[in-house]
Amino acid sequence: TDFHGKTAFITGGASGIGLGIAKVLVERGAQVVIADLRPDHIAHAMEQFAGEGRSNQVASVEIDVTSRQRYAEVAEQMSRDYGGIDILINNAGVGSEGPILEAGYADWDFGLGVNVNGVVNGLQAMLPQMIAHGRGGHVVNTASLAAVVQMPEYFVIYGAAKAAVLNISENMRAVLDSKNIGMSCLLPGFTKSNIHQANQNRPEHLKQGSGWAASEEKLAHRQFGDIGANWLEPEDVGVMVADAIIANELYIITHGNFRDQMQRRFDAMMARVPEADFQF
Ligand code: NAI
Repeated sequence: TDFHGKTAFITGGASGIGLGIAKVLVERGAQVVIADLRPDHIAHAMEQFAGEGRSNQVASVEIDVTSRQRYAEVAEQMSRDYGGIDILINNAGVGSEGPILEAGYADWDFGLGVNVNGVVNGLQAMLPQMIAHGRGGHVVNTASLAAVVQMPEYFVIYGAAKAAVLNISENMRAVLDSKNIGMSCLLPGFTKSNIHQANQNRPEHLKQGSGWAASEEKLAHRQFGDIGANWLEPEDVGVMVADAIIANELYIITHGNFRDQMQRRFDAMMARVPEADFQF
């Protein structure tokens, strides 16, 4: 019961990795609020918790994390209902993938909007109450291993967004530490989820001007295992996240598979660092 008496707010908490994290935190005693765009995902998740007799530990809110107005309302509700949240998990994301030279502004706006600005909005809306209540707490931002390894051109927008999430996490850690709030960044590899349903999460106004209707339709039919083995169960990621919160680990890395690519990227950069410091 590590998390007894703690309230965790999990965006994208109704499916995949977010739901996996929710299940583990609930098992370990937390009160969890799953915050998600999709009513169908929320209904399905709440049924699972009810089936396990855990309904009293789980609440849900419908939110699009790109809506600052909605985030303000939800933040207010969390202050009222829980005296402020203890754990913020900025996990909602979309698999915005497609041929980059065919991308329209709508594709950039969708991918960066959810995957970066969703995190920014979570921090802006929720940190004030986490600081004000004075109990300390923890933030987890979900990036991806795509933030640190070179990816095929289909992942340009996704990778850009996830690199930003990683950087925000790294650079906010010290200042949050001064408020007794820990910071972790989750960098998952392939995990079983509904991330291939990007087209179902895309708002109407960003369907116009998209060059990716066809590639998102194709992605929607992807099966686990198409890209290789090693697809983790979301609950396994949940365990890693819960443990990292307790230990206040900055990096949560789920797969060892990309070790060589990470090393090669860093070696290539280091090889281009001049010997001598620049003299001012
Ligand atoms: P998922 O699609 O199963 O879960 C994401 C949830 O976020 C869904 O329930 C969806 O309804 C919700 N969501 C989407 N847009 C939203 C919005 N605008 N506002 C609120 N909720 C929204 O996918 P998964 O894989 O569990 O994704 C979770 C996070 O993990 C994402 O940030 C994703 O980029 C990241 N990730 C996933 C990997 C994987 O292999 N599954 C690998 C690396 C990173």
